[in-house]
Amino acid sequence: MIGTGYVGLVSGVCFSDLGNDVICVDKDIKKINLLKKGKVPIYEPGLSELVLKNYKNKRLNFSSDLKTSIKNSDIIFICVGTPTKKSGGSADLSQIYDVAKELSLSINKFKIIITKSTVPVTTGDEIEKILSKKISKNRFAVVSNPEFLREGEAIRDFIYPDRIVVGSNDKRSNRILKSLYSPLISKGAHYLHTSRRAAELIKYASNSFLATKITFINEIANLCEKTDINIEDISIGMGLDERIGSRFLRAGPAYGGSCFPKDTKAIISTADKFKINLSVIKSVVKSNENRSNILLNRVYDILKKKIKNKKITFLGVTFKANTDDMRDSSSLTMIPTLSKKGALIRYYDPTGYKKDFEKFKNVSYENSIKKSIEGSDLVIIHTEWNDFKSINFKNLVKGKKFIIYDMRNIYSPTKIKSQGFKYYSVGR
Ligand SMILES: NC(=O)c1ccc[n+]([C@@H]2O[C@H](COP(=O)([O-])OP(=O)(O)OC[C@H]3O[C@@H](n4cnc5c(N)ncnc54)[C@H](O)[C@@H]3O)[C@@H](O)[C@H]2O)c1
Repeated sequence: MIGTGYVGLVSGVCFSDLGNDVICVDKDIKKINLLKKGKVPIYEPGLSELVLKNYKNKRLNFSSDLKTSIKNSDIIFICVGTPTKKSGGSADLSQIYDVAKELSLSINKFKIIITKSTVPVTTGDEIEKILSKKISKNRFAVVSNPEFLREGEAIRDFIYPDRIVVGSNDKRSNRILKSLYSPLISKGAHYLHTSRRAAELIKYASNSFLATKITFINEIANLCEKTDINIEDISIGMGLDERIGSRFLRAGPAYGGSCFPKDTKAIISTADKFKINLSVIKSVVKSNENRSNILLNRVYDILKKKIKNKKITFLGVTFKANTDDMRDSSSLTMIPTLSKKGALIRYYDPTGYKKDFEKFKNVSYENSIKKSIEGSDLVIIHTEWNDFKSINFKNLVKGKKFIIYDMRNIYSPTKIKSQGFKYYSVGR
């Protein structure tokens, strides 16, 4: 596994748990040294235990020596990052191409090179070109095997995926991959073999569709707020239609994370190159970018436009529960905006302090829910951690009653109001 991040580490550990010998490689030596000491650099439920188990039984290894690791492997997964370029919305593929160049110098016998990273259509063709400059075509096959795991549920998603998509134009590598994945196929995962380009596009189309569902329900929630309708009724009513399905139909803050924001922009940029206008996805991106403004305007209304010196607490700052990932979390927009307006922000997150807020005035971390909400004017439930689902606000903080803005619709409005709190939520 080249790249030992959320995808590379989880996939590597799971492959080793299935009985394969795995080397997880990363150029970040600190990360590799931590892992060699049995410490996992990211928060993902169940991951530490699985790493320790497979590291101890020596099926899982960690290395920063890319050349030797390539030489010692038959199957190579590229799992490096594909972030958005600094200018424009396209994917920055420099990490992918650096690895491809390194591969072209180190391949000693037939290898299957697989992109597990999310890469735009035709990236596989480019990797093939880079490799062909240095090695003969019968020494490698380039395959696309996009990863669909979700942070927070990554291990379960890897072991019980809905589908495994393998895009290869080469029969031999398809056969080998099918056998690598056979323990998952035998548990019910669909194995879909497509062309390489189709596999690349399936990943972007899927993420864009899910982002569309979230954005769609968020906009409907705006309408519910004006028409005295409960968005939950709409989500259930729509979700019971099997053609629609209930998942990703929960109203809340803007979608964030390491995938949806960057992948929606990247597919638009890819399509633009082919002179295709993906107008639906363009609207989704625009709507999502405006989502934090809508929620912030609600905050201003709740506080009657008096933000200066107001004590605001954020419960949860990661983009979703069960991960420490802050990439493109809507808290990164909301907290700085409120701090610039003079609010005094405290936050608590089960995954601890975040250096992302270091440079903002009056933003501080508290190490417990209680400390973070004591004396607050407004408590914002930003992330749907289980830790926040059964707080007895009344018992936890005596005296002053704060306002609660539940951006995840965790609580029942009537129950919270009966405890004497002013309570706002989304689309209800
Ligand atoms: N995070 C997710 O939930 C998720 C889910 C599905 C797909 N993906 C895709 O998988 C890819 C990886 O995402 P991630 O979240 O795991 O990223 P990440 O940033 O957590 O990890 C990438 C790792 O690659 C390493 N790296 C970069 N260049 C390297 C090189 N030349 N040699 C060795 N290591 C190198 C980095 O140091 C880093 O540790 C992205 O394309 C992403 O879109 C992510």
